[in-house]
Parts: sequence; structure tokens; C-alpha cells
Amino acid sequence: MTTQSFCKYEFIKGEIKYSRMQRRNRILRKSEAIRNMVAETILTPSDFIVPLFIDEGEHIATEIPSMKGYYRRSLDLTIAEVKELWSLGIQSVLLFVKAADETKDNTGKEAWNPDGLMQRAIKEIKNALPEIVVMTDVALDPYSIYGHDGIVDIKKGTILNDATVDALTKMSLSHAAAGADFIAPSDMMDGRIGAFRKALEGNNFTEVGIMSYSAKYASCFYGPFRDALDSAPGFGDKKTYQMNYANRIEAINETLQDVEQGADIVMIKPAMAYLDIIRDVKNVVTVPVSAYHVSGEYAMIKAAAERGWLDENKVIIESLTSIKRAGADLIATYFAKDAAKLLQKG
Ligand code: PBG
Repeated sequence: MTTQSFCKYEFIKGEIKYSRMQRRNRILRKSEAIRNMVAETILTPSDFIVPLFIDEGEHIATEIPSMKGYYRRSLDLTIAEVKELWSLGIQSVLLFVKAADETKDNTGKEAWNPDGLMQRAIKEIKNALPEIVVMTDVALDPYSIYGHDGIVDIKKGTILNDATVDALTKMSLSHAAAGADFIAPSDMMDGRIGAFRKALEGNNFTEVGIMSYSAKYASCFYGPFRDALDSAPGFGDKKTYQMNYANRIEAINETLQDVEQGADIVMIKPAMAYLDIIRDVKNVVTVPVSAYHVSGEYAMIKAAAERGWLDENKVIIESLTSIKRAGADLIATYFAKDAAKLLQKG
């Protein structure tokens, strides 16, 4: 063995002898300062996208029963919340609205009403804080009497792909017209990214981005979100459009197609049970990757913390760091505000 070698052991007469050259890996873990110096993943508030649930009315903040500490707010209180988020260094919000029951049908037409709650929310938030990046959910479920992301073929009980893409294109254009920075389609219909990009270009919305939910799985972890928006499917499930959680390669296929069709950012959803998918996708795309740490993932941590079974603050930072380490450049999370405050404290 030469002296330059880092070989940790050598064979002497057929037996392994450990040499004095063994690495002392714990040197890099000796103190907090050293650990910070060599940390490979560092969270910052600009990594976060904050999902916001918006309601009609004034001075309304309703706690979501299955999402302790998370609220659905009227627009006035949403604006106040967004100002606070901005002051904490958070740069972006993702809007969801709770549509009034009487506006729901099977066409989803309220989704592109220029005076709809979403369109008013985009305008008011951009007015109050022009710098903040406003992203908007594009899918029909809040507007569908059936709670599905697309238009239902009532006779067959199936979701019509191309009619849905046409409806979602109108929805996307109306968000762009209201001033959205990014539209975020969460519907998983085929061909929608190409259709939206073409429509945006055709209508001169050349500065509007698309953050595509590219690999969105049919997941039980969305339960609390559906409580928040009263949008649970009225029949069946979403397995004919959202992905089977048994699949990995399919996520790469979906994501590469979305990039080819014009997605600026791709998203994996959920996050913590899908860290392998985040990494697989990160390894093959050159656009930013985001991950959605969804409502059920929030609810689990909250429920355990409430019982004193987990240290909430530590679990928040560990979870978000793991999602970023897996390959997410951006994380949509209900813990964004808590995490931003914790990061400020250091
Ligand atoms: C609907 C939509 C869902 C979520 C975001 N957009 C629910 C669903 O697909 O049923 C889930 C978000 C969460 O659980 O936090 N298009």
C-alpha cells in the first residue's frame, strides 16, 4: 500500500487489517458550525409556495377541521395574510377558491367568469403586492357539481379529456387576463400543457408561466384539502386521470411530455411519500422541479404534534429539508409560514 492511498484496510496473509488511514467522518459533524458549513441542503423562505384557500364574504376565517391551524379566508383577510407572508420573505402564493354551491354545474363555466372569486383574488393580491408571484390552480373540481377535475360524460360516468382541456384553456386565459404570474394545472388531462401554451401565445400572454402538476398521483393524502374546498368527488375516484402510486417510469414520461409541451416548472405531488419520484424527475429535467407537500401530510404531523408524540417545529424543518434534498427546487407547503419564522430564528 502506498502512503497516498485512502484504502482503509489491507490484506495480510489472507486476513483483513484496518490501517491507520481510516477516515474520521465524525470530524465534519463535530460542532454546529462545522455541520452548517458542510450542509448540502439549505432551506430558505423563497423555496416555499403558500397554498391559500379563499372564500366569499368579509372578515371570515374558517379553520379547516382536518387541518388544525390552517384557514380558509375571505379576500380582505387573505390580503392581510399575504402581506405578512411577504414580510417573512415568502415570494409566492398558490390560490384555490371555494366556489358557491349555486355556481357549480357540469361545464365548470364559473371557472372563467371574469368577475369570479379567483379572478377578483388575483387582481386584488397583485394590486396590494405587485411583486408577489401569484400562481393559480387550474382544474374544474371546485366548480363541478360532481367534484371532478373535468367534465363528466354523465351516461358513461367517465371524464371527457378534450372537452375538459377546452374548458381549462378558457379558465387559464381568464387567470392570465386577471394578472396571474403562473397558472398551475392540477387536472392531469392529456395534452393540456400544449393547449394552454398555444392559447397564451395566441392571446399575447407571453409572460405567463405554467407550473404543471406533471406527476400527480391518485392519493388518499388529499382528503383534508377536499374538506377545505368541499370538493370531494361525488361518485367514483380520480384514478382514470391521476397516476397510480405503484408507478415510477410513468412519472418521467408525464414530466418529459409536459416540458416538451411548454411547462416552465414541473411538479410532483404528494411529496413525502414520493421522494423517489422527485429525485427521478430531478435527474432528467432541466427546468425547476417543485413538490407539493399536501394536506394529508400536514394533517399527520399536526395530529401527532398535538398528542405530544412529535416535536412539531423540528419535524417541519426536517420534512421540508428532506423534500428539498430529494430534488425539489420549490415546495408548496401549508407549513411555509411556520418554517419561514423558524428559519428567521435560526
Ligand atoms: C384539485 C386539487 C387537489 C389538490 C390540489 N388541487 C385535490 C384533488 O386532486 O383531489 C390537493 C392538495 C392537497 O391535498 O393539499 N385539482
